[in-house]
Amino acid sequence: STGVARSAGGALAVAGADLREVAAEHGTPAYVLDEADLRRRARGFTEAFTDAFSADAGLAGADVYYAGKAFLSVAVARWVHEEGLRVDASTAGELAVALRAGLPGEAIGLHGNNKSDAEISTALEHGVGRIVVDSLAEIPRVAGIAARAGVRAPVMVRVTTGVHAGGHQFIATAHEDQKFGLSLASGAARKAVEEILATDALDLIGLHSHIGSQILDLDGFAVAARAVLRLRAEVAQATGHLMPEVDLGGGYGIRYTDADDVPPAPDEIAGRLAAVVRETCQELGSPPPRVSIEPGRSVVGPAGLTLYTVGTVKDVALDGGGVRTYVSVDGGMSDNIRPALYGAAYTAALANRSSDAGTVDARVVGKHCESGDIVVHDVALPADVRAGDLLAVPATGAYGRSMASTYNLVPRPPVLAAADGRTRVLVRRETLEDVLGLDVGT
Ligand code: LLP
Repeated sequence: STGVARSAGGALAVAGADLREVAAEHGTPAYVLDEADLRRRARGFTEAFTDAFSADAGLAGADVYYAGKAFLSVAVARWVHEEGLRVDASTAGELAVALRAGLPGEAIGLHGNNKSDAEISTALEHGVGRIVVDSLAEIPRVAGIAARAGVRAPVMVRVTTGVHAGGHQFIATAHEDQKFGLSLASGAARKAVEEILATDALDLIGLHSHIGSQILDLDGFAVAARAVLRLRAEVAQATGHLMPEVDLGGGYGIRYTDADDVPPAPDEIAGRLAAVVRETCQELGSPPPRVSIEPGRSVVGPAGLTLYTVGTVKDVALDGGGVRTYVSVDGGMSDNIRPALYGAAYTAALANRSSDAGTVDARVVGKHCESGDIVVHDVALPADVRAGDLLAVPATGAYGRSMASTYNLVPRPPVLAAADGRTRVLVRRETLEDVLGLDVGT
């Protein structure tokens, strides 16, 4: 993240907090979030979208929902809300954190392909801004719960447009074989819209499209946006109901290593989407909707790093000749499952000192009982890397702590916020007592 710098003593610092001191005070492994960097990224989206979708630009405004699945804590929910964002929750847990942070219900959206009755009723009880309906079966369920609570539920329909994206590419198919949303091609999305319009307890506020994650190419968003705007216009024509909103989802990619392409900035994303919405609505002769987006990774990912302590260092001879230096750290796949799960690439840097020892081809591995427990596949590290050194792995703010496990009964690391040269604990380190406390059998 932008707040990382090497101090005069050679150690890395986040927002002025020297990582040697962070490790001494809080232990390792630890996730460190740069508060100012996270806030700046959040605000960057609000400002870019508010500008690009303004009435002056011929559009009807925009809202940014922070996708809490990337990482949510009470402080982070507050920060993003202070920067003008709302929060997208997809479980009772995420909803509870957003509420505990003091967000008003209308600043929260509820997602999920298999929401429980309890999740739906908690959401309605707190007056959430929207529930994104993901199946036909959910329609009477939400309606029943809303009717019993004596409220009208604001709902969106999640539409699968056939556009699927991730990394550098997008593909468009008619029928998507996956669990989310209601298909445009099969007519399921249209059917959902009609059923909702025929249900008093439901207020159909819009259509929703989320096409994937870690997307660097904006074309997929443009294709999906056109498809949902077309459906919105068709529904307006056929029923007279012009849905006021369209959500274009999240999924903007970030840079994990120097080898990754530079992702589009919020201004570029907002400008492109605004142009597509304006042009498509003009062609269709329909007034533009208020547009929302749901970035998660791009808000929190680059703002976080993981700090580890090096343990065992082992040189392993390779078949083709040469040596790979395996550098073991005190965490691994329990705090970052992404390399094992997605083959995700990260990098690492010596954090407690600088070195002019030349470099070795290293692989950073964890302490778990499988060979796929890799943190960084390939990285050049100083040849004198040794036990007791600190390693920083950047860009772990998203889907790190939020997907962490206690595999091998390793307690989960804390999340620290760095600001103005200091750190404070946002989520405390899990202890062995926390983990063992769940074991109540004899
Ligand atoms: N909205 C919806 C409906 C989503 O399903 C997601 C992510 C987002 C927004 C936020 O997407 P983002 O801006 O963070 O890409 N665990 C995977 C990513 C899973 C994304 C799931 N949905 C990973 O670590 O790469």
